[in-house]
Amino acid sequence: MSSDLALPIADEALAGRLRDRMAVVEDALVGHVQSRATFVTAAASHLMEAGGKRFRPLLVLLAAETGDCADSEEVITAACVVELTHLASLYHDDVMDEADLRRGAVSANARWDNHVAILTGDFLFSKSSELTAELGAEAVRIQAQTFTRLVEGQIMETVAPGPGEDALAHYLDVVAGKTGSLLATSALYGARFGGATPQIEKALTSYGEIVGSAFQLSDDILDIASESDESGKTPGTDLREGVPTLPVLMARASTDPADARLLELLAVDLGDDDLHAEALDLLRKHPAMDEARAYVVARAAEAKALLEALPEGPVRTALESFADVVAVRST
Ligand code: IPE
Ligand code: IPE
Ligand code: MG
Ligand code: MG
Repeated sequence: MSSDLALPIADEALAGRLRDRMAVVEDALVGHVQSRATFVTAAASHLMEAGGKRFRPLLVLLAAETGDCADSEEVITAACVVELTHLASLYHDDVMDEADLRRGAVSANARWDNHVAILTGDFLFSKSSELTAELGAEAVRIQAQTFTRLVEGQIMETVAPGPGEDALAHYLDVVAGKTGSLLATSALYGARFGGATPQIEKALTSYGEIVGSAFQLSDDILDIASESDESGKTPGTDLREGVPTLPVLMARASTDPADARLLELLAVDLGDDDLHAEALDLLRKHPAMDEARAYVVARAAEAKALLEALPEGPVRTALESFADVVAVRST
């Protein structure tokens, strides 16, 4: 079993291959965040060096294993493209969420300021686009459409559901846009540049979209459940920022009089430390947490069912574990 991949992979040959390929991606990434300006390189390297799970490039490499040219240079390029796009979005996200901690390091907005964080995110996105050009016009179109969906998701999160729009449907749409889109593209790129059949590419793209949404839902549950900053982020950020996530939306549906205080708190500004702590505590104990977890497990099962389009073997098994890890993640 691999110790340094963010995914347990039982098949040693596959794990070894992925480890070697991830090391190549890692080296290439260092080169891609270089700027002619020393300060820009420092700002852009900051979160890359801080770590991260590298789930998206790993998904590219894994999806490529379903094809007959998994070793192609284009697969490595595609893996770098998705990590750089993700990294760019993290710089912007921490500005939006006023977050101080990312990947266990001080966020760029806290370390420098919002201007630096926003422009560094732009720089990384440009680097990612430049690199995508090496993969051809179709890949550029896909990356642009992905970023459109990601940004739309991020913006729609700040906007309340429209009149008559269901709050849960709105949230799920936000989640699919801000996170499902890039995992779908990671799987698609891997399948495409690894030489998979169109049928497998289609199944993996849908799989990535659902796994990506489940990943975000899990992240949102973790934001409430986690008692420490073991995730490398500050827990309770969504509640403080007034972003209603799955457990909150489920708790809000309660008609139990015992939930009156929680519902009252969920309707007010939780910028105050005491109110925030009280709401977090009540929510952690609420059955909505398990309800939300069960929902995520069901989404992961849905994603796994799509893998029936793949031949049985270590790659399919690894993609199944990827869905499982995402559903019950702790970091
Ligand atoms: C964080 O993504 C943002 C979400 C979409 C939840 P990751 O959890 O993949 O972050 P890193 O890359 O491991 O830091
Ligand atoms: C991150 O969303 C999504 C993107 C970066 C597109 P969140 O705000 O929910 O993620 P974390 O918890 O800060 O990583
Ligand atoms: Mg955030
Ligand atoms: Mg956010």
